[in-house]
Amino acid sequence: MAQQSSTEDRVIIFDTTLRDGEQSAGAGLTVEEKLRIAHQLNKLGVDVIEAGFAGSSPGDFEAVRRIANEVKGPVITSLARAVDADIDAAGRAFEGVENARIHVFISASDIHLMHQMRKDRETIMDMAVHGVERAKSYVDDVEFSAMDASRTEPEYLYTMLEAVIRAGATTVNITDTVGYSTPDEFGALIRGVIENVPNIEQAVISVHCHNDLGMASANSLAAIENGARQVEGCINGLGERAGNAALEEVIMAVETRPDHYGVTTGINLREIGNSSRMVSSIFGFPIQANKAIVGQNAFRHSSGIHQDAFLKERTTFEIMEPESVGWRGQALVLGKLSGRAGLRARLHELGYDLTDEELTDVFVTFKDLADTKREITDMDLEALMSEQHRMVDTDRMYKVGTIHVVCGNDTSPEARVTLECPDGESRTVEARGTGPVDAVCKAIDEVVGLDIELTEFAVTAVTEGIDSLGEVTIRVAKNGSVYSGRGSDSDIVVASAKAYVNAINRLLAIGAQDRSANTGAV
Ligand code: KIV
Ligand code: ZN
Repeated sequence: MAQQSSTEDRVIIFDTTLRDGEQSAGAGLTVEEKLRIAHQLNKLGVDVIEAGFAGSSPGDFEAVRRIANEVKGPVITSLARAVDADIDAAGRAFEGVENARIHVFISASDIHLMHQMRKDRETIMDMAVHGVERAKSYVDDVEFSAMDASRTEPEYLYTMLEAVIRAGATTVNITDTVGYSTPDEFGALIRGVIENVPNIEQAVISVHCHNDLGMASANSLAAIENGARQVEGCINGLGERAGNAALEEVIMAVETRPDHYGVTTGINLREIGNSSRMVSSIFGFPIQANKAIVGQNAFRHSSGIHQDAFLKERTTFEIMEPESVGWRGQALVLGKLSGRAGLRARLHELGYDLTDEELTDVFVTFKDLADTKREITDMDLEALMSEQHRMVDTDRMYKVGTIHVVCGNDTSPEARVTLECPDGESRTVEARGTGPVDAVCKAIDEVVGLDIELTEFAVTAVTEGIDSLGEVTIRVAKNGSVYSGRGSDSDIVVASAKAYVNAINRLLAIGAQDRSANTGAV
């Protein structure tokens, strides 16, 4: 309020899809995938990208380092516990980088202090201050998060915030780590911080809300109403457990209701759709149809009464224009007779800028698809591009060659699979299974020789109609870690094979990146 809104009526959008979002159970991205998302977040216009947790693994260190060096525009931050090793790893990842922030956090609630940290309040306070001071020795821009702030005794929280601001924190983040707060309570907490932390005007107040009771966006918005000027969240509401505030919801709430919130963002709203689709595709988490802003049904009108009114006047049942958030439905269609220029132009509008060589590859796949499917919609093109990226990312890894299956209700399913292997050889294996997909996976297992368990399998149609591309999402588990894979094809058994091989490749790539980088990170 007084302190925060007087400086600026712009809310800083802090995206943590690559850090808290990657903590979603079953998520796990390669460095290349993180870079691709970071470039898209830059197009979206977020102010801060939390690229990872440099001290947590060599793979995360590398992702933070590369994003900080390659994505120019937003501030890039790394999370760090208030311990020297984490902060030093973040500092090393940011060597030579200008726009960097170190995000130091420590638990603040008694329940965390007693059971998780097993330390007293004084020790925690000292660690918080020391952590900020150490981060300050690497960068000017230091964020401090009091974890579980909404369950922390307010007086202790105020004292801690005052101390870390004195130590140099330029942003202080008030968290609802376990999604326990209500909008009224959380708004009051932000007001309390403004009224009781004497030096609060020297820092931006940030909020970070989890969605355990489905109130993450509402709590973040209540915080804005009460003076917070940075909101942290993830695209599509990804994140630990039930996720974080869905950034697209918070952004569209303030942009659709300036009369109420009186603030704005620097977001390029038309990139919301592209960002959501890319994050869904790379993470392997489909978006529920009725998800606000980015769900398939978010702008579809089904009841006759609604349709009738909508056709008379759009605003009767629509509070945002779908195009304004980059929602495209299936409006534009290419087909068999479309040429390279048409394909390139359409892909450019969808946010994909291809080199001539890339276009040549995609054009071949496009023509194959156009032979089996009369109309190629934007959604087909998105699926095709995801498939293309998966192939590039896993170059020199396993690739699906040919698939032949025999199945039906009068025979025992059999598959013959040819895989191109990382050593350049092709191997063909036959296997039987309980169904065609099981037989294909068993054949692939035999070639790859890894002991993995298939834990999740889902097929969706990319568009409506019998000739639609089938998109398969698979999760496999190995040694307690879960890896997702996706594949699309007009034949769902082939799509399943591609998804299974994609999951295996990602398992190998993520394992390798964590083993290889010799960064000294913990
Ligand atoms: O939920 C949380 O409290 C966090 C902090 C590390 C910011 O993710
Ligand atoms: Zn969190």
